[in-house]
Amino acid sequence: MCGIVGYIGFRNASDVLLKTLKRLEYRGYDSAGVAIINGSLQVEKKKGYIDALSIDFEGTIGIGHTRWATHGAPSNENAHPFVDCKGEIAIVHNGIIENFMELKEELLKSGHIFKSDTDSESIAHLIEEYGEYPFRAAFMKAVRRLRGSFAIAAIKVGERKIMVAKKESPLVIGIGDHENFIASDIPAFLEYTNRVVVLKDGEFAELEEDSVTIYDNNGKEIHRDVTRIDWSVEDAEKGGYEHFMLKEIFEQPRAMEDTLYALESRELFSLDIERVNIVACGTSYHAGLTGKYVLEELLHVPVSVYYASEYRYMAAVEDPALTILITQSGETADTIGAAKRAKELGNITVGITNVVGSSITNYVDYVLYTNAGPEIGVAATKTFTTQLAVLYYFAIRSALSMRKLTRKSAERLLSELHRMPYYIEKVLDEEESIKAEAQKIANANSMYFIARGLNYPVALEGALKMKEISYIHAEGYPAGELKHGPIALIDNGMPVIALVPEDALYEKMLSNIKEVTARDAYVVGLSSNGDVEKWVNSLILVPHTQPLFTPFVNAVALQLLAYHVAKTLGRKIDKPKNLAKTVTVE
Ligand code: G6P
Repeated sequence: MCGIVGYIGFRNASDVLLKTLKRLEYRGYDSAGVAIINGSLQVEKKKGYIDALSIDFEGTIGIGHTRWATHGAPSNENAHPFVDCKGEIAIVHNGIIENFMELKEELLKSGHIFKSDTDSESIAHLIEEYGEYPFRAAFMKAVRRLRGSFAIAAIKVGERKIMVAKKESPLVIGIGDHENFIASDIPAFLEYTNRVVVLKDGEFAELEEDSVTIYDNNGKEIHRDVTRIDWSVEDAEKGGYEHFMLKEIFEQPRAMEDTLYALESRELFSLDIERVNIVACGTSYHAGLTGKYVLEELLHVPVSVYYASEYRYMAAVEDPALTILITQSGETADTIGAAKRAKELGNITVGITNVVGSSITNYVDYVLYTNAGPEIGVAATKTFTTQLAVLYYFAIRSALSMRKLTRKSAERLLSELHRMPYYIEKVLDEEESIKAEAQKIANANSMYFIARGLNYPVALEGALKMKEISYIHAEGYPAGELKHGPIALIDNGMPVIALVPEDALYEKMLSNIKEVTARDAYVVGLSSNGDVEKWVNSLILVPHTQPLFTPFVNAVALQLLAYHVAKTLGRKIDKPKNLAKTVTVE
């Protein structure tokens, strides 16, 4: 999704902007551009990758953008930055301006000429329209006219400052010595500074090289503490792995440990829970669906799980419940919208996110953090398993405080949870055999992932990973549901990935496997029980854990499977086509 950056200081702005934009590439984009002031405004923007930009501008102040098309096709004209008619003001924007049609009409009437089909261009013209005011006031007046979501940065010839505004789209400020930065997320400028100021919705900031001033919506100056980020640039880089995704898969044992440690170092709020709603998108939704099984098992309360995009507009949601919103980025527009709705409906809300100070934290009553560190690969991996860790931890601790579990049982479960990093290591040790399996199935056109109960959401996640990065059509199904339709597609050699944990449904899974082998599917089993080998074409052995914890090991094995299928096919694993890491539009 769109990314914005900005720099003011003493370095060559072109170099800084290109480097910081590169770090936002993982968000997904189809065009890129920069604007730099060096006496006059110099703009270079193009459809395609950042490397296609040829920039040798001088100048120490500028803004940059990667665009993921919403209004208007990917093209040179629709790429940001946008410039006003006089060629003095340049802006970059992430988000959607909902009232842009009406603004554009008004601006056209007063003589402005538009060069793109985008909603964003109207912002540059609107600032120009308030040209009789000083730049800061003109910027604020223009932004107050906007409806929708935005992170905006603007520069103007003759003004040594960058003006920014934020509402429901991510924007962070990096504080350096005699230089300051803006970006859509922290890793973009982490090479230059780890001192960060997070803007809240409705706020403005004015960056000069020696100062950053924050203003509330009314233009009143406000104080904001500077946060020091303890990730290193290395954390955000590949560290010797071929892809971020592989690095992040291998970071899972440590990410789990850090997450559990952080959870245990804080006092957990205790809630009396009668019903739970879980709301999320994508991989976070699959974590939520797994959480449903765990919460129901341990708390004996009903749990409903919704896609955030559906929850937002449902005619009726059940009576107020504890509502858990899961979003690794903390910025997904639908999940933020759902958080607002949940609050309006009188729910107590808990957000689970990986990003400190992200938007979701402003809209929920309580926040639980996954401590996975920055996740750059578009396909979520370590944020998924750490979301599971948070949900398991929350379920066990809540069950204990609600007296649904004895202290002894809770301790037993917690200590098994603490063993997960060790079991995940064991799965990672199996990378070579999983890779060999991946190479056997990489030429398939279509695959099914099947499981029962608690592992059904893991099958959905396995299929999602597979289609996201390998582009092979893959569907997850509850194994018992296959014969009600999907089995019609099974034919000679079609891979069916079957999750067969040693739990109460073990034998039923074996029967379902028989149904597909009878129709010549190529079944890859995932199990800790070597006997499964007799029932399948090929077996991936995973470590034995208590049944409740099998999703952790299965999920990691399926991440490696998808990774190696995509690698065999030579796909762009960290930046799959059409996908964005952070989806800040509905
Ligand atoms: C995008 C990403 C997915 C992610 C989903 C939800 O679609 O490509 O990998 O699962 O957004 O993201 P969130 O940040 O809310 O967890």
